[in-house]
Amino acid sequence: MTDPRHSTDPALEFDRPVDAGDDTDAGTTRAGTAGAPAGTLSPAEKAATREEHLRLAEGALVRADDLVAGYVPGVNILRGCDFYLQEGELVGIIGPNGAGKSTLLKTIFGLIPVRSGAVSLRGEDITSAPAHRLVSLGVGYVPQNNNVFPSLTIEENMQMGAYLRPKVFKERFSYVSDLFPMLGERRSTKAGSLSGGERQMVAMGRALMMEPSVLLLDEPSAGLSPAYQDEVFIRCRRINATGVSIIMVEQNARRCLQICDRGYVLDQGRNAYTDTGESLMHDPKVIELYLGTLAKAR
Ligand SMILES: Nc1ncnc2c1ncn2[C@@H]1O[C@H](COP(=O)(O)OP(=O)(O)O)[C@@H](O)[C@H]1O
Ligand SMILES: [Mg+2]
Repeated sequence: MTDPRHSTDPALEFDRPVDAGDDTDAGTTRAGTAGAPAGTLSPAEKAATREEHLRLAEGALVRADDLVAGYVPGVNILRGCDFYLQEGELVGIIGPNGAGKSTLLKTIFGLIPVRSGAVSLRGEDITSAPAHRLVSLGVGYVPQNNNVFPSLTIEENMQMGAYLRPKVFKERFSYVSDLFPMLGERRSTKAGSLSGGERQMVAMGRALMMEPSVLLLDEPSAGLSPAYQDEVFIRCRRINATGVSIIMVEQNARRCLQICDRGYVLDQGRNAYTDTGESLMHDPKVIELYLGTLAKAR
């Protein structure tokens, strides 16, 4: 693996050295724009309000509107969540543990029963659509865990990724090997013998085999060493630059906001703040509640 800090592409350089100590792990923080007096909303809070969000979501590639969903009858995890992804965007979703970030991705990918609200892709309703339909419509999903076939080789994992279009295997494998050279170089290695970072590349490579137009990534940097984390973020930017729109859930909040076009802070099943990654990173409330020392102290 190349060291991302030696990247030759300045656009992909991070503006600070790796410092694992400033990652948010705001497991118990809670925002709460609900009840904020009208007129006191920050731009990022205002953008997260339903009316404003509906306006901005116009013409989006992927949209989730007023989603209510959960696992157990009577318990809603998403409680009126709104989300959109415009064509070409890389959008990050951050927020405390248990906020519903993974649930939102799973719900967009049709894996969780939707109690109310809707998900659409290019204006077409895909609420609760089966995975094979979503894959054929160009949606790829990389779950956080168990996302490779450990007993299969890297190449076989890639074949599984292209199972709906076996004829394009060679061309797509060459594309993903360009992004992740390790996949080509070690094609005969069993995925189960790889490190966490390498497995993550297999999982992302496999999702890319179907030439998705939208990629849903659940915590791609989780559990990786700082150097591998940077590598994953850089690859996400590169994948995005090849025309793949990306929704990325991340616990590594600062890094995520650094690379994403827009971000959402999800809290208690609702989006609390949304803005450009840059603005969220500098929003005093977001810093206080989700990025700063208070978030860590809680
Ligand atoms: N399979 C499941 N069955 C029941 N509850 C679940 C399941 N998965 C997650 N939850 C609950 O849903 C809530 C949100 O979880 P999740 O979406 O994984 O949060 P996040 O990804 O933001 O950390 C948590 O309270 C969690 O306990
Ligand atoms: Mg999660």
